[in-house]
Amino acid sequence: MPDDLIELEEEEHTSQLTTPTFRRILGLVKPHWRWMAGFLVAITFTASLDAMFTYINKNMIDQGIAQKSIPILIKYASYYGGLQVVQAVTVFIFIYLVGILGERIQYDIRRALFNHLQDLSLSYYSQNAVGRLMARVTSDSGRISSLMTWGTLDVTWAIVSIITSVIFMMILNWKLALIVFAIIPILLAIAINFRKKILVEFRKSRRANSKITGEYNQSIQGVRVVKALGREDENLREFSVITDDMFKASYRAAWLSALFLPTVQIVTAFALGAIVWYGGLQSVTARFSVGDIQAFVSYLTFMIWPVQDLARVYADIQNSIASAERIFKLLDTIPEVQNLSDAIDAETIQGAIEFDHVHFYYEDRKPILTDFTLKVKPGETIALVGPTGGGKTTIVNLLCRFYEPKEGLIRINGRNYTDYTLQSIHSRVGIVLQTPHLFSGSIRENIRYGQLDASNNDVEAAAKIAGAHDFILTFEKGYDQNVGEGGNLLSVGQKQLISLARAVLSKPEIFIMDEATSSVDTLTEALIQRGMEALMAGRTSFVIAHRLSTIRRADRIVVIQDGQIAEMGTHAELLKRRGHYYRLYTQQFKFEKEQAYDVAVPDTASVIK
Ligand SMILES: Nc1ncnc2c1ncn2[C@@H]1O[C@H](COP(=O)(O)OP(=O)(O)OP(=O)(O)O)[C@@H](O)[C@H]1O
Ligand SMILES: [Mg+2]
Repeated sequence: MPDDLIELEEEEHTSQLTTPTFRRILGLVKPHWRWMAGFLVAITFTASLDAMFTYINKNMIDQGIAQKSIPILIKYASYYGGLQVVQAVTVFIFIYLVGILGERIQYDIRRALFNHLQDLSLSYYSQNAVGRLMARVTSDSGRISSLMTWGTLDVTWAIVSIITSVIFMMILNWKLALIVFAIIPILLAIAINFRKKILVEFRKSRRANSKITGEYNQSIQGVRVVKALGREDENLREFSVITDDMFKASYRAAWLSALFLPTVQIVTAFALGAIVWYGGLQSVTARFSVGDIQAFVSYLTFMIWPVQDLARVYADIQNSIASAERIFKLLDTIPEVQNLSDAIDAETIQGAIEFDHVHFYYEDRKPILTDFTLKVKPGETIALVGPTGGGKTTIVNLLCRFYEPKEGLIRINGRNYTDYTLQSIHSRVGIVLQTPHLFSGSIRENIRYGQLDASNNDVEAAAKIAGAHDFILTFEKGYDQNVGEGGNLLSVGQKQLISLARAVLSKPEIFIMDEATSSVDTLTEALIQRGMEALMAGRTSFVIAHRLSTIRRADRIVVIQDGQIAEMGTHAELLKRRGHYYRLYTQQFKFEKEQAYDVAVPDTASVIK
């Protein structure tokens, strides 16, 4: 998706630090402020010790070497050594703290994100590419924590270096210091100017790079079409234009980067020249020593490198701000479905269920359910059938409150179901999804997923009821067999049986089964059927079936077409009516017979009477 990449890069380069974002970033550090404070102290120490070393050097030259005094040399050498040990300790401390602080901050962000992602409604996931979302989440949280740690380190070190250099220069010779400071604005201007230009070229080149990736993608994936239509030459020409753009931009970026350092060096050289010349002149009158000149030169370098490094640090910070903004945006997304502030526990949802003039759409207001009304008595089994895309799964999504009606309401026990907490509804519904999902782990763990306190016996009893026990035992490790990621080491039918066992174990008050369209063999189908019937006994149940043979015994069959009830009644009533259900049923019957005997069965219904 090259357009996405381009958009992302735009974001990275245009993000500016706003006060609210800054506050929130600081908020992330707040719980760990002690660690942060320790970290800052350690860096400040380490960086200022650098300046001390230069000062000791100066004294060593001026007093020890110039006066050829061994005791003085020993004195300063021991200061030097002592301070080195102190610095080694502070370096150890800040590297240790940087690691801990980074992990703590990342842990908080990841936890908050995970928690929030679990709260978000299904509608969020159908509107956002989850794969990309997850990739961003992991790398963005890493970037924020490195901003808080290594970013802080860079900035603090730079500031401390500049301040200490300034102080020591002023102590050594304030007049010369002032001359030297005059070059700082010049250097800053150069650095900022170059940074802007280099970033512009980098941006162009990265944009072109995204386009190239996209172009590769397209022509490799569509290689057959490309060949069939003889587009090779044309494609190559288009490709050359993009690579040309990239080449030019990268070329300019390289040229500017190469030019930057020498420019800084030349300006610095003037300052160094000034120091040596002025210092030399002064040393004649003994107001400026060799040590002073050497110290000044060192302090100047301490002051220059933060300016040189500015471009890199600035770009890093900008990227991290973009990351922070993306994460905050995600954390600020309000779940579409959430508990009302005065929501109550439903206690039981065994009572009547009523869809009262429900209207629903997913997005773009394209109506999926229109004026859907259905009353279900406690203990009743409702079968939902109808053409694909008719809205059957949508109805159960609404019933489970994964989504809520846009208009109209759903009542449980005679009360609007939004009065209840989500938890109290979800925990009392047992659902087997159209695309059953298992988690990587053993079969046992999967069955126990919603009922962590269930014993092994409970798990096996549930599997027996669901009809899954026998096939589970055929595995080498039985219940401890690993199901693979998403259960992909099992067949769809097996996954359904395990989901069914999971539902049995949760002893739901309402049971919902969205049958898989993919065909399972007749034996598995019979097993699923038996398990379902065991579960449905005495419970309000909703069964969506594509195999009509499985729902003949339902109390009521509801034919859903275009989000509305097209027909409703028992199997016998609906067949008698010779309407939609009759057509669906005879079609399927005809198809099954054709499959079974490999012959064309005449299109009449008389055969099934
Ligand atoms: N998450 C979603 N976002 C947007 N539209 C959706 C979403 N899920 C389903 N739809 C649309 O809603 C309509 C009804 O879908 P639904 O899944 O309820 O059909 P269904 O009757 O269960 O079909 P099937 O028999 O194939 O399972 C379809 O037109 C579908 O495109
Ligand atoms: Mg469906």
